[in-house]
Amino acid sequence: MRLFLFLALGTQIVLFLPELPGHGELYVRVIWVAVASTILAWWFMRLAREKGHIILARLGLARAAAPASYVRALFDAYACDYDEHLTEELHYAAPAQLRALVVEHLAIEAGTVADLGCGTGLCGLQFRDLATKLLGVDLSARMLQRARARACYDQLVEADVVDFLRRHKASFSLLVAADVLVYIGDLAPVFAAAAAALRPGGGFAFTVEGATGSRWRALRSGRYAHPVAYVQRLAAQARLEIVARRDAALRTQHGRPVAGDVWLLRKPLPPSRRGDDGNAPCEPPASCAVGAGAD
Ligand SMILES: C[S@@+](CC[C@H](N)C(=O)[O-])C[C@H]1O[C@@H](n2cnc3c(N)ncnc32)[C@H](O)[C@@H]1O
Repeated sequence: MRLFLFLALGTQIVLFLPELPGHGELYVRVIWVAVASTILAWWFMRLAREKGHIILARLGLARAAAPASYVRALFDAYACDYDEHLTEELHYAAPAQLRALVVEHLAIEAGTVADLGCGTGLCGLQFRDLATKLLGVDLSARMLQRARARACYDQLVEADVVDFLRRHKASFSLLVAADVLVYIGDLAPVFAAAAAALRPGGGFAFTVEGATGSRWRALRSGRYAHPVAYVQRLAAQARLEIVARRDAALRTQHGRPVAGDVWLLRKPLPPSRRGDDGNAPCEPPASCAVGAGAD
C-alpha cells in the first residue's frame, strides 16, 4: 500500500513540474518513469514468486510441484510463528503419528535417519532417539535456522529433497517426511530417489493429505493431495513394500480436522537376508543418542 502511495505521489509531482531550465522537467520525468517501472517490475516479480503458485492452483493450472521459490518465501516468512501456530492452534500431530507407525512396525537398525523437509525440527524431536545420525534437509533457510537452534540434528542441509536424496545412494535406515509431500504433486521422482537412498530394509515414513481418484490433485491452498491408489501404484513402481497405512487427522484447518494418511514403506531386503517366513529378521531398535549439535 505504501509503495503505491509513493508511486502515485511521485507521479503527481512529476506531472505537475514547472518548466525547468534546458527542458530539465523532461529529464526528471524520464528518470521517474524508469524508477517507477523498475519498482513495479520488482513488485510483480515478488508477487509472482509468493502468489503465482496459488493463483495457478486456483485456475487448475498448478505444476507438478510447488516451485522452490514459493516454498522458500512461504516458510521463510512463517518460520518465527511456525511452532506455536502449528502446535497450539492447528493441533499438528503428523510427527507423533509418524513415530507411532514406525515404532509399531519397523525395527530399524541403529543408523542414519533423514528428516525430509525438516522445517523447525518438530519431526526431528520425535526421531532423535531412533537415530545414530540424524540429518535434516529443507529448502527454507529460516526454518533451518530454527531447527539449528534445537540442537537436535547432527547435520542440516539446505536443499530440495529430491536433489538431496539423489546425492545419497544406499545411505539411510529411515526417511521421514511429515507434511512435506503436500508441496509436491507428482511423487514419482521422490519415490525413485527415496528407494535409491535407502539401505535394504530401510523405511520411508510420510504423511499425505487424502483425496479420491487415482492421481495427485492440486488444492486451492496450493498444497497437493494424494489418493491411496496413487501412493500404492508409485510404491510398486519404485519397488517399495507397503508396511502400513493409517487414516489420520493430521491437523486442523479453520477448526476442522484435515484428513490424511500416514504411510510406512520399506525397501525390501535381498532374499539372502530374509527370515524363513520371507520377512526381514527383527533387529532391536536403535539406542538413544540425544543431544548432538547441528552443523
Ligand atoms: C509444513 S512444513 C513441515 C516441517 C516439518 N516436517 C514438521 O513436521 O514440522 C513443510 C516443510 O517442508 C519444506 N519443503 C517443502 N517442499 C520442499 C522440498 N521440495 N524440498 C525441501 N524442503 C521442502 C518447507 O520449507 C517446510 O519447512
